[in-house]
Amino acid sequence: MNIIGLDALVFGVEDLPACRQYLIDYGLREAGNDRFEALDGTAVVLRAKEDTALPQSMGTASLLRETVYGVADVLTLDAIETELLRDRAVVREGGVLRCQDDMGFALAFQLTTRRPLTLPSEQVNAPGSVQRGLNQVGLPSDMPALPRSLSHVVYFVPDAQKAEAFYQRLGFVCTDRFTGVGPFLRPAGTQDHHTLFLIQTPPQMKGCEHFTFHMGGPTEVMLAGTRFAEKGYQSFWGPGRHRFGSNWFWYFNSPLGCHVEYDADMDLHDDAWIAREVPMGADASQIFLFQHREKWAPGGPPASGAQH
Ligand SMILES: [Fe+2]
Repeated sequence: MNIIGLDALVFGVEDLPACRQYLIDYGLREAGNDRFEALDGTAVVLRAKEDTALPQSMGTASLLRETVYGVADVLTLDAIETELLRDRAVVREGGVLRCQDDMGFALAFQLTTRRPLTLPSEQVNAPGSVQRGLNQVGLPSDMPALPRSLSHVVYFVPDAQKAEAFYQRLGFVCTDRFTGVGPFLRPAGTQDHHTLFLIQTPPQMKGCEHFTFHMGGPTEVMLAGTRFAEKGYQSFWGPGRHRFGSNWFWYFNSPLGCHVEYDADMDLHDDAWIAREVPMGADASQIFLFQHREKWAPGGPPASGAQH
């Protein structure tokens, strides 16, 4: 089944104005009807919590109401429908297939609306490999740092084994696993290390833990995160770099009932990859972690009362 990845995440929120401003400040573009898009058209969609057109809430604090996957072709939609009709209700309407996974998360599958991206990655000069070249400044002050593509979503689930078995039916494979916690899952239509990560938790925590968009490289993660923090948003974890997936990360608190991340430079895999498994812990989840601080320069801050 050629599932490419996430096309959109739909949230039913309490504070629409705060969420709109948050997503714009994060770097997404308002594309109309409270749809906030990255450069490739993948998106976060906002609705009021009480909007009756939304799939039902799961009855926890999570505000995620639907996870929308993009697929490559109609054959994949047909295959998903056939597989899921074996044991659950599936609604196919207007080219969109809707159902629930085994944990109660509302899912939608559609022909992907992603736009192909052709953009340079971050260029690095190093002895032995010159990428950026002469007179090209690595960090111009107006350097853009915009989210490129919806990368992955993380679910808290009460039964990670059962949840994983459902996604295996749709062709997701485990790329790595934290023992007793859950798997990193990659659908067949992408090489990204993970599109979905499952974390086993008590049932009352069920929902979305975080989602993230891919940036153009680690400098863009730093730049976007710094600009976001300067706007007053609160850093939750990072910046740093994960071990599994090798992706750079920076997580922020949000009014969407979950954390929101910037990430970059995730490992790519194919079916030759053999999944690793380790117990989860601080050392296993990050190779290094910086702590965001107020700016500082040698010589220290200006003397109090000094003009600056
Ligand atoms: Fe993440």
